[in-house]
Amino acid sequence: MDRRNFVKSSLAAAGATLLAGHSSLASSTPDDRQSSSGAQSIPGAISASEIDAARFPDDFLWGMASAAYQVEGAWNIDGKGESNWDRFSHTVGKIKGGATGDVACDQYHRYKEDIAILKRLYQKSYRFSISWARIQPAGTGSANQKGIDHYSRLVDTILEAGIRPFCTLYHWDLPQALEDRGGWPNRDLASYYAEYAGILAKHLGDRLTVWAPFNMPWTFTYYGYGIGVFPPQRTGFDLFLKAAHTVNLAQGQAFRAIKAASSKATVGSAYGAAPAYPKTNSEADIAATARYNAMNNLYFLNTAMRGEYPKAFVGEPPYAAMGYRPGDDKIMKVPLDWIGFHYYTRRVVSAAISTCVSGPSGHFGTETEGEGGASARDPLTQIHVEMPTEGPLTEAGLEIWPHGMYDLVTQISREYNNPIIEISENGCCYLDSPDDSGRVPDQRRISFHQQYLAELARAIRDGARVRAYHAWSLVDNFEWADGYSQRYGLTYVDFRTQKRTIKDSGLWYGRVAASNRLNA
Ligand code: FCB
Repeated sequence: MDRRNFVKSSLAAAGATLLAGHSSLASSTPDDRQSSSGAQSIPGAISASEIDAARFPDDFLWGMASAAYQVEGAWNIDGKGESNWDRFSHTVGKIKGGATGDVACDQYHRYKEDIAILKRLYQKSYRFSISWARIQPAGTGSANQKGIDHYSRLVDTILEAGIRPFCTLYHWDLPQALEDRGGWPNRDLASYYAEYAGILAKHLGDRLTVWAPFNMPWTFTYYGYGIGVFPPQRTGFDLFLKAAHTVNLAQGQAFRAIKAASSKATVGSAYGAAPAYPKTNSEADIAATARYNAMNNLYFLNTAMRGEYPKAFVGEPPYAAMGYRPGDDKIMKVPLDWIGFHYYTRRVVSAAISTCVSGPSGHFGTETEGEGGASARDPLTQIHVEMPTEGPLTEAGLEIWPHGMYDLVTQISREYNNPIIEISENGCCYLDSPDDSGRVPDQRRISFHQQYLAELARAIRDGARVRAYHAWSLVDNFEWADGYSQRYGLTYVDFRTQKRTIKDSGLWYGRVAASNRLNA
């Protein structure tokens, strides 16, 4: 199954009704605004004059993001252990085109070249991730010095370039030895993970100050243990609930371990988020949308900020199935120093009419259930989720919906007492490649970022404390189960030669970073 199970849908109400319970935003719905000539097909696109007028604060942190397994390669070098993604990609039939991350962008060896690109493009922040299996090859036990040395050199090189290093501790690659011990549904992983976090903070925390424990925790727990499209391909709602609970405990324990080892550390997040809009104005759809928001956007945030699960379920949270123990609220509660989240695309949600049917394997749903029918994703949230296609689609099939950026940022600002926010990822897949002159003219990517950033500028103007934006991604890379068939980079990579070519979007983004304006 594709990572994004997108569906066609005609949604009269979408966009007109915003996040459940927040009708005050209605005055700025996309339909009120005009299209700009550069992006006519985007409903409610920000106009060219608004793009010209958009300004970002002088100290705004322009950045780019990547992830260890997607760019590093060097999968078995310098004592690195096998990870779940090594195992998965080495298993026939799992990845499109039989691709693996064995070499990827070879950033393990070419990091200096890549950081030089960031510097050339006036970047202020580089979000990268660390491979746990390089630090602890079997997931527990003493640290592998060669792995630490590698990341130490990487951090030094980033700092020498005048760029802020932003470290994600876990971007989906788990030491296979821990998967073999039950993976994230095994509660013991919370303590193993905290030990790993402490090792990193001890060795890098004298220079690194910005830490995010998990990339998109809902995605890897749900895809890996719920619906089985990511490794280890297990399927069961209870497994997902357990995995997610361990990750919530791990987040809390890691927060404390990092802070104990490094007095300079600030700990935030890199959550995936999709603004959700009710399909109709019915009370049932509005309530279902609130449950979606709690499950997909707040499930790991609310536990950190408030020590409790948000209202994601029709009834009480299924504590027994989660493996919840008395006192877990105190472990989970670690008010984050800043909140980081990604935004790519939105969702439209309705209340499920029929309950989901659990098959023999316990399979209970997908990420989006589609337009036809109204079956529930799972028995406890009773939501039905669609990805609308009112806006144009990128070449990964995701709907372009810039206005969602404004909605998400203002929603999080309102609900969590106006925290410091970082956009940890935003980007789009287009397959443009070098032309005869060697240029990569990817105008659609420029328009995409311009539109999303213009919405971000509006949110900042309206009081949101957003300090950073990271484009996904610095380089084209290994796009998980889609292998090398999708290109998100602002730099083109020829995977046969590893030659990098900065795309027109990268050059444009460099001018944006230098001027804090979008019409650069
Ligand atoms: C995000 C992931 C990132 C990349 C982009 C396209 O969800 O965090 O690794 O795959 O999507």
